[in-house]
Amino acid sequence: MENQPFLVAEQVSYIFPDGQFHVLEDISLTINAGDFVALLGPSGVGKSTLLRLLGGLLKPTSGRISMADLPESSATDPIGVVFQRDNLMPWRTVTENVQLPLELQRQADQESRYRVQEMIELVGLAGFEGSYPAQLSGGMAQRVAIARALVHRPALLLLDEPFGSLDALTRERMGQELLRIWHALPVTVFMVTHSITEAVMLADEVLVMGGRPAVGDPAALIHRVPIGLPRPRQLEIQGTRSFQKCAKEIRSAIQV
Ligand SMILES: Nc1ncnc2c1ncn2[C@@H]1O[C@H](COP(=O)(O)OP(=O)(O)OP(=O)(O)O)[C@@H](O)[C@H]1O
Ligand SMILES: [Mg+2]
Repeated sequence: MENQPFLVAEQVSYIFPDGQFHVLEDISLTINAGDFVALLGPSGVGKSTLLRLLGGLLKPTSGRISMADLPESSATDPIGVVFQRDNLMPWRTVTENVQLPLELQRQADQESRYRVQEMIELVGLAGFEGSYPAQLSGGMAQRVAIARALVHRPALLLLDEPFGSLDALTRERMGQELLRIWHALPVTVFMVTHSITEAVMLADEVLVMGGRPAVGDPAALIHRVPIGLPRPRQLEIQGTRSFQKCAKEIRSAIQV
């Protein structure tokens, strides 16, 4: 399925209907099936808004977003989302949080119980099934949120700064974990991040967004950097010239 367009946005603009606040202007992008795409840009530029549009949580004011037809075996809801904060339900255990999407889809059979356990193991939380969110570290809570977003086997995983609240070392480790999970599953990933290093480390392609919607200059995609670094990628790759070159290109695009 590689190199097939999976999610396509064509000339998408978005104006928040309440205040007539024009956030996004003429955004076009194509995400190929199985790719890992990262989106970078200054705070308030409209990254979360674009992610919500791609996930169908908002409707474009103009333009079109379309997703390729999925095989008949695929999930009822083809998208999984991890929001800027983990959004776990504090009164539910790890297992109960992860199985929530399946409950909402009224799947509570043996097969779905097996799948919940499989996801908990995939994100490295075996042994913590009965713990409550308050008993987990920030990194563990984010793993639960990722397991919950993946449990119904979505074709597209949308991540909005999933590691934003974590310390640098945990964040680095979570990035590696995410790569392992992505390799293990047939899933396309679109991830918003503030970290240039993280974007280069993880993605096949980095999109940079610019503009200042707050002063009447709606955001647009201003730069696109393909990351041709070999996979699998270990942390040591950050010391290489080609890694630095990608990071530099992104940094100068952001400063425009
Ligand atoms: N519901 C809303 N109604 C009106 N304006 C909004 C709404 N939500 C967000 N905005 C505005 O839209 C702009 C883009 O917001 P968005 O959350 O997409 O930015 P962002 O790039 O994700 O920022 P950050 O990096 O801080 O998360 C901001 O200026 C914000 O004030
Ligand atoms: Mg945001």
